[in-house]
This record gives sequence, C-alpha cells and structure tokens, in this order.
Amino acid sequence: MYVVGEEEIEALAAVIRKGALFRYGVGDECDRFETRYAAYLGVKHFALAASGSNALAAAMVALGLGPGDEVIIPAHTYMATATSVLSAGAIPVVVDIDETLTISPAAIEAAIGPQTKAVVPVHMWGTACDMDAIMAIAARNHLIVIEDACQGVGGGYRGRKFASIGHAGCFSFNYYKNMTCGEGGGVAANDDAVAERVRCAIDPCHFYWRGRSDALKPFSANGARASELMGAVLNVQLDRVAGMVAAMRRERNLILEGTRSLDNLGLKPAPLNSPDHDCATHVFYTLPSAGAASAFSKLFPSVIAGKTGRHNYTEWDQVLMGAGAAHPAMNPYNMPANAACRRSYSKDMCAPSLAILDRTVMVPTHPLHSGREIENIVHNIGAAARVALAGAPLDEAKIKAAAPLDPQKFDLKVDA
Ligand SMILES: Cc1ncc(COP(=O)(O)O)c(C=O)c1O
Repeated sequence: MYVVGEEEIEALAAVIRKGALFRYGVGDECDRFETRYAAYLGVKHFALAASGSNALAAAMVALGLGPGDEVIIPAHTYMATATSVLSAGAIPVVVDIDETLTISPAAIEAAIGPQTKAVVPVHMWGTACDMDAIMAIAARNHLIVIEDACQGVGGGYRGRKFASIGHAGCFSFNYYKNMTCGEGGGVAANDDAVAERVRCAIDPCHFYWRGRSDALKPFSANGARASELMGAVLNVQLDRVAGMVAAMRRERNLILEGTRSLDNLGLKPAPLNSPDHDCATHVFYTLPSAGAASAFSKLFPSVIAGKTGRHNYTEWDQVLMGAGAAHPAMNPYNMPANAACRRSYSKDMCAPSLAILDRTVMVPTHPLHSGREIENIVHNIGAAARVALAGAPLDEAKIKAAAPLDPQKFDLKVDA
C-alpha cells in the first residue's frame, strides 16, 4: 500500500451513507472509475473485477484462448499469470527473462511452436517489457498479446500507458499496488466485442443488469464483480497516482545520480526498457555475482529479485506439479485437446533467469520518502557497495537509518 488516507475514508463513508454499495442500478462509482481510467490509459474500455487474477482470467477467455493453446509467459512473475492461463484450459509455456527483469523477446521467438497462440508480457515491478519487439514478434506469428500490468499502474512504455498496447491488458489493485482498494483489478481493451466478453467473464449475469445485446453470445464463467466501495476508493486513488509516480521517478533519478560512480565497482543499474515512462517503484542494480548481491543486501537491507518467492517459477507448485484444476477432468494438463502442447516443467528450465535474478538487487522507492531518507539511501548503497564489491573493511560500512523493507511484500522469510 502506498498512500491511503482521509479522502478514501470520506469516499467510503459517502457510499455507505447513500446505501448504494452495489455497482448496478444504485451506484455510479465503478462506472465513473471505468470511464476515467479508460481515458487515463488511452483505451476504449476498462472493466473492473474483484482481483488482478480474475482480470487476467477474464482476458484469456475473452480473447478466445482455451484447450489446445499454449501461452508464453515469463519465468519471473506472480503465479497468477500462469494460473490464469490454466483457468482458460490452456497451457503456460515458461520462458526466460533478460536483465531488464522482463520477458526476453529472443526467448519468446525461440519458444514459438505450432500450438502457440498468445504471449503475456508482464511489466514486472512496474518496469516496461520491450513492447515494440514483442508486438513485432506477435504480428509476425499471429499471436495474441495480453499485457500483465498488475504491477504497473501509472507506468508506460515510450509514451503509451501499460495495458494500452496489446490486445488486452490487466491490472491488480491489491494492497501492494500503486493504486489500491484492498483487493481489485480490471481489464483494458480497445475492441468492443472483446470488452463485452470480458464483462461476461467478470459477471456472466451482467446482461441482467445492463441489458442483453445481440452482439454477445453469453457463456458461463465465475463471478468476480467489483463493489461500489472499490470504485469509490479507486476514484480517489486515481487522482493521486500521477503525483506518486512522479515522486518515485524523482527519487530513482536522485539515487541513480548519487550512485553513478559506483558503476566502476560493479554496481550497474539494470538496463530498463523505458525508464522515463515506467513506475520507478525500485532502483535495480545488476551485480557481478550472486555472492556480491547477497553480501550487498546483508549490509544494506535490500531485496534480491531471486529471493522474492512467489514471483519466481520455481515457487509455482501447482504449475510444476501439473495440478491445473481441482477436478482431474477439468485439469488442462490431462485434456486430450492439450496433448500436442508442451506440458513438462522442471525447476531448472529457466536457469539463466534465476542467475540474473540472484544477482539483481532492488532498492524500493516510496512517494513519501523525505530528502533526508533519500540521502541516507544513497549513502547506504555506497557504503555497502564499497564493502561488498571493493573489499573495504566491514567497520567502514556505516549504515544510516533508512525506511524498513515491507516483510510481507518481499517475502523476506524466504530470504533467511
Ligand atoms: C504480475 C502479477 N500478475 C497478477 C497478479 C494477480 O493480482 P491479484 O493479486 O490482484 O489477484 C499480481 C498480484 O500480485 C501480479 O503481481
């Protein structure tokens, strides 16, 4: 959670006082948010859902993915990217990331096979995937592109907002995201028919509230409707997001500026795809080795990307075990239609990604960091780098007080 305050309390109280908590018929907060957020993203449609996982699942079925289809996803993402593919009956094919921490276009191209139908670039940690390269590969190979922008609220790629570039894009508004209403999510799309199918997947009964349309052939799906309480909080949060992202970009630039000379020691900023447009929720450094990254992060408490647990494919138990559904007959891994899809995984199938992640150190920014806190972060990075990378004596690493890491967000128990 970044910033939540009195304005959200007022907005929630107003909805409760009105007694208009349901999005259809009585309230207008969800409708208002969907219209405003679509305009902010520069897309025609935005549909709210109960979570980012639900949003991804809705986008998959809305775009027609299902049994017989392989969907290429990166080795470094929250496991919902993979499980949403399975929820549509399709098979996730996991490929490497590169030093940008996002899916490698070369790995996508190498993984395309006869069953490949789609690719999901994930704007991990709010950094941009190489969307020009990915869209070009997709066009050449007739692939659907679903952007997983769940971690990318407020960010973009070369002047376009995340989720506005592919055939659909999905967001999460859970507690950890740049814009939050506790739990929530949604799908952005430009195509009218896709947007209608997304709404049907999010609420198969939605025509009951909104009216039937000859354009949509309804289908059954799980419900994942948003409430007016979510819409009301998001309307407040949307007013704040541009300022927050601007503050995080300023902080990241100050930190990069203040640590530039450490490049000589081997503390190199990760080569991001669109640093002027992304969310800047972290500063990423690629260190020469996993050992150096580990020594650095012990001195200055920071996050090693490879130790962020659920974000790495090695932790996706259901996928690795082939447990794609609760009932065996609904398990995509057992479906005859998926017989030609690649369905076997191993813990070392994306070893190059693990090597990159283990030597990538993440230093979180925050819109409320003070000038003094940012100065201390710069100081601490320098002190830790001199000991970890240049062999300076340990007692020279005088680490100053800095904002603590969020142990839940970064799964620090896995780090121990
Ligand atoms: C990259 C990514 N995809 C999907 C999701 C799923 O979102 P939610 O937790 O709202 O279901 C998340 C959430 O953390 C995520 O980070």
